[in-house]
Amino acid sequence: MNRLVVVSNRVALPGESRAGGLAVGLEAALRAHGGVWFGWSGKVVRDASGRLHEQTDGDVRYVTMDLNRPDHDAYYNGFANRTLWPLLHSRLDLVDYARETRAGYRRVNLLFAEKLAPLLRDDDLLWIHDYHLIPLAAMLRERGVGCRIGFFLHVPMPSADLVSALPEHGRLFSTLYAYDLVGFQTMRDADRFRTYARIFGGGSIEPDGSVTLPGGKRVDVGNFPIGIDAGRIAAQSAAAVGKPAVRALRESMSGRQLAIGVDRLDYSKGLPERFRAFGRYLERHPDERGRLTFLQIAPVSRGDVAEYRHLRDQLEGIAGHINGTHAEPDWTPLRYVNRNFGHATLTGFYRLASLALVTPLRDGMNLVAKEYVAAQNPENPGVLVLSMLAGAAAELDAALLVNPYDLDGVADAISRAASMPLPERRERWESMMRPITEFDIHAWCARFLERLARTTG
Ligand code: G6P
Repeated sequence: MNRLVVVSNRVALPGESRAGGLAVGLEAALRAHGGVWFGWSGKVVRDASGRLHEQTDGDVRYVTMDLNRPDHDAYYNGFANRTLWPLLHSRLDLVDYARETRAGYRRVNLLFAEKLAPLLRDDDLLWIHDYHLIPLAAMLRERGVGCRIGFFLHVPMPSADLVSALPEHGRLFSTLYAYDLVGFQTMRDADRFRTYARIFGGGSIEPDGSVTLPGGKRVDVGNFPIGIDAGRIAAQSAAAVGKPAVRALRESMSGRQLAIGVDRLDYSKGLPERFRAFGRYLERHPDERGRLTFLQIAPVSRGDVAEYRHLRDQLEGIAGHINGTHAEPDWTPLRYVNRNFGHATLTGFYRLASLALVTPLRDGMNLVAKEYVAAQNPENPGVLVLSMLAGAAAELDAALLVNPYDLDGVADAISRAASMPLPERRERWESMMRPITEFDIHAWCARFLERLARTTG
């Protein structure tokens, strides 16, 4: 078996609690497969001398490096999270079009290339992840790296029109052609990339979905919806109901139903709209007052970026307004918590909840949706209210699908979920569990790596 080398900006070092689908997914994949995980240490230091930190846990070797402040600001806070993130989530209004941060993005990618190239062997399978590291393969090839290199985009691929709003988009996105295989979450994402390569790269789309560029280089393209470790989550959630935090939550419900949301505090997650939709539910269904408590867990994310700080202020205002308007002396309808919880504890919370609200405005996949379903008690499963604009909706069409912008629609879905009879809940749950179990995280990893190993370059 070829050695697997995974590269991502964020590395989940052993023992760290992780927020975000990428870290959760890669951690499970590497635990099963073994290999090397290379990336940023998560530390910003005054003098990042480029020294690599190494540690080993089981079959996984972690190799990380620190970043200095100017690099981190330009690369992570800047181009990755103020330009590419909003662009890829179709938020042109939030894109920072200034050019200064691009040099930092390039610099950090070069640093990754320089440090990584000497560690690689020709028979490795190198798998690079997400929008932080798009140009990395091209830079590695310039350094003579000959192994197969695949790329997976965890976030959505928008239409060619939208991408073209980025000045000099071709310089960046054409570096994707240096990969042997480029993978996306959904068929639509993969198709949008093919179209982009045809329009702006002059590529031709082959019958097998790969793209041949004018110089003759062929790039394989596919969709590989990321999954979860379904078996582990089911076991974890059943065990977690005995945990003190989960028991305390259950006792605090005083017999009311629990609705849950768990998201990084990110504008792509549609949290203001979700809060307002919950407020709308309380207004539109006065007979159901006091029946449901909504717990939103939203750990702070990318807090140095102005748009994220603004979102936090905004949510505090809306949450205060909803509770001020609807709360009773003995009932707070919306509980809003910014801290993070351990993964096992979260699965226990999911199991307690009669419904989950997963209503992003745009999302590559959304693993909370899948984890919520996998964590349910099969005898009495809860209901998933899911945005049709999340990648997960392509597989989980037995959820209550909603348009996250349509507040009345979401409000009515909450009411419907809260009173859904058991037979319908079971039927929907079983139907959602089929793809979740069949295309779990191990299948995701295996499918991508088998395809990468078959590419001819
Ligand atoms: C999303 C991205 C990941 C990222 C994660 C957490 O899932 O696709 O690349 O790691 O969010 O965000 P952060 O900026 O904290 O790494």
